[in-house]
Amino acid sequence: MVFNDLMSYNSKIFIINGPNLNLLGKREPEHYGNKTLNDIKENCIKYVAKKNIELIFEQSNDESVIIEMIQTASDSDGIIINAGAYTHTSIAIHDALKSSNSPAIEVHLSNIHKREEFRHKSYISGVVDGIIIGLGDQGYILAIDAVTKIMNERVS
Ligand code: DQA
Repeated sequence: MVFNDLMSYNSKIFIINGPNLNLLGKREPEHYGNKTLNDIKENCIKYVAKKNIELIFEQSNDESVIIEMIQTASDSDGIIINAGAYTHTSIAIHDALKSSNSPAIEVHLSNIHKREEFRHKSYISGVVDGIIIGLGDQGYILAIDAVTKIMNERVS
């Protein structure tokens, strides 16, 4: 979804959410908190409102859709990705991020290193610029700041 497409923006950030993140709010709140994905989206929109940033905030349960979103981002766009369980399984998402020249930040609501061992391995961490893990929905806001900083440094 593109917000405020009547304005002209300096930069564009794709926030990509993977499988089951559409269930936030009712899904394992002890790990993921009580906010819905829509609450997180609204919070991000509010946060960028005066920053001249176009936000594209999407969720898909489908690996190929996530890969296409990564491929859509241009070199000057930013990517923030919470790939959900695909983090721990998807060489295809790893390859898509590796082929992308967009600055990218990996986000997880929960601290995956404090959880089951199968969550400790991320196929994404090695091909992104930075990682924000375990800080709940605040991680998305921190990721916006982090990716924006990298994008600004690239153009200056
Ligand atoms: C998650 C962590 C993953 O292990 C899990 O499969 C998710 C959510 C997180 O945000 O903490 O779906 O990415």
